Amino acid sequence: MGAEIIHTELPSRHFEPRIYDVGAWTSHLHFAYDLVAVLKPSVLVELGVDRGESYFAFCQSAAENKTGTRCFGVDSWQGDQHAGGYDETTFAQVSAHNRANYEAFSTLIRSNFGAVLATFESESIDVLHLDGLHTEAAVRHDIETWLPKVRPGGIVLLHDVDVRMRDFGAWKIWAELQARNRSWTFHDGPGLGVWQKPSAQKLPGFLEELLAPPNEWNDALAKYYGERAGEMQHKIGEHWRDGTIRETPFAQQTVIQIFYTKDGAHREEDSVYARVGHEGWKEVAIDLPCGAEASPLRIDFVSALTTIEIESIRVTKGGRDCFSSADESGFSTIRLGGDLECLPHSSALKLKITGVDPQLYLPVIDLPAGEGTLAIQMRLRVSPSQQ
Ligand SMILES: C[S@@+](CC[C@H](N)C(=O)[O-])C[C@H]1O[C@@H](n2cnc3c(N)ncnc32)[C@H](O)[C@@H]1O
Repeated sequence: MGAEIIHTELPSRHFEPRIYDVGAWTSHLHFAYDLVAVLKPSVLVELGVDRGESYFAFCQSAAENKTGTRCFGVDSWQGDQHAGGYDETTFAQVSAHNRANYEAFSTLIRSNFGAVLATFESESIDVLHLDGLHTEAAVRHDIETWLPKVRPGGIVLLHDVDVRMRDFGAWKIWAELQARNRSWTFHDGPGLGVWQKPSAQKLPGFLEELLAPPNEWNDALAKYYGERAGEMQHKIGEHWRDGTIRETPFAQQTVIQIFYTKDGAHREEDSVYARVGHEGWKEVAIDLPCGAEASPLRIDFVSALTTIEIESIRVTKGGRDCFSSADESGFSTIRLGGDLECLPHSSALKLKITGVDPQLYLPVIDLPAGEGTLAIQMRLRVSPSQQ
């Protein structure tokens, strides 16, 4: 198989994902599609579905390539400390998409991973995708409990294997798995590990080449998927430039990212998320990690050219008020930056989001000494903006 043959043979060459840009999986969607098309797994299980970016790529391939796969997506749909919290919109939207497109062979299971373990027979799963909480302890627990359910020769996918910030620890478990049997790592985005459970069995088509020791074909495959990932990023960039981002799956929810700092610099690793749907007013409460400081807090919205009305913002430590937009100078002390415009409004802060990086800076807050969680509460409503 040469580089040119890869381009003409792989099922994903005509793949148009229905769901993309709603998680951290966009760069691997074409691989997910080919994996299912070529392996034709009987049973595929995903632990950690969230908005369904990876899961629905597997399902779309199963449907379009008529693989006869039964797919199971397991999630509490409550979020976790890495993915952030989110509201009921996510489960409602994922369920509706599943019902409309894949109900015949795909089952969503709203549960803790552990509680459904017994539902699956030993060695009954052909493809297992682990994408739950990414601390070392959680990934180790998921691998130890679920690996016996994978058939010998079956494929395990582990997401976020390149993320080393904070308490992310999938990379440690990935190193251990790699020492146990053959594997391949995609280094696009947060990294995806592809591992085969030991067996003498060969894999079909390009999968055998991919997992073989380093050779020109697995390099060519990595290049092919890297190019598809680049095309997806280009397409998403175009959506922002021409305004069609408003019509994509991404536009159905808004991510609120809170940066905390003690030195005035705002870093990705010192931030937490929450996500809301767009139906009506939302009360959002976000706890910041122990030791977080507010010098100052920055609030970013990842939102598809929407209008956001913020009725209130409150910051508390250990339950005691430290900042409230209801105070006399309240909203006027908040500095705006990046891709947004402030629209006239009598009481709320009304923001028109004009691009990918809108920012609000709260005033520096001298936090009371002592223990107690720093938390931020907001009441807001997101609506589509007119073009
Ligand atoms: C990283 S996200 C999944 C991303 C998803 N695969 C995608 O393509 O966007 C992790 C998800 O795992 C879920 N989760 C984490 N630990 C869980 C557990 N023990 N039981 C059930 N769900 C869990 C969270 O609710 C969250 O939705």
